[in-house]
Amino acid sequence: MVATFADNFYYPGFRILEFLEQRKVPELKVRFSREQIAARVAELGSQITRDFAGEPLVLVGVLKGAAIFLSDLARQIALDSTFDFISVSSYGNQKQNSGEVKLLKDVDQSMEGKNVILVEDILDTGLTMAYLKEMILAHHPRAFKIAALLDKKCRRRQPIHADYVGFEIPDEFVVGYGMDYAERYRNLPDICVVE
Ligand code: IMP
Ligand code: MG
Repeated sequence: MVATFADNFYYPGFRILEFLEQRKVPELKVRFSREQIAARVAELGSQITRDFAGEPLVLVGVLKGAAIFLSDLARQIALDSTFDFISVSSYGNQKQNSGEVKLLKDVDQSMEGKNVILVEDILDTGLTMAYLKEMILAHHPRAFKIAALLDKKCRRRQPIHADYVGFEIPDEFVVGYGMDYAERYRNLPDICVVE
């Protein structure tokens, strides 16, 4: 079942806040419902469990957008797993990517000899991932894979390929399930398109 704007408790709350602050109210349309996301994340978790059968994993989440995806995905992986997090800035508060990637937080532990899955919310131009991939490969991991909840293939500027993709989307801006617009909407349970 696809949740609609009207039957969702959270979205009117956001709109009231915007109204009170006299801000332009963006239209949010549900693109992937929480049920659709949960079903797809479970499939990805099973696939990863099969691919790495019996081996330990390190899930490296890209803060902050991938936090929710990582926490759901991790619970669908039936393998000995640890977490690490990395933080980069590439967007500021804009919808446009400046093309500049700045490392704000590195991984806590060496990735040498480990099975690493870099977990990202959305693969857009690929600039962030190209930077992070190179950085992690320099650690000489045993295996390196990328899991992206969303993939905007048509926007790619770097030849980056994700091994595990939740959904492919066209060139549209989405929020929710960890993803933000100017840091807001991360806590929406569905993935919504901003119009
Ligand atoms: P890239 O370097 O262009 O691939 O940028 C990837 C990052 O940009 C993602 O990790 C997101 O944080 C952000 N991003 C790209 N598209 C969207 C979007 O539609 N909504 C929210 N964040 C986005
Ligand atoms: Mg991000």
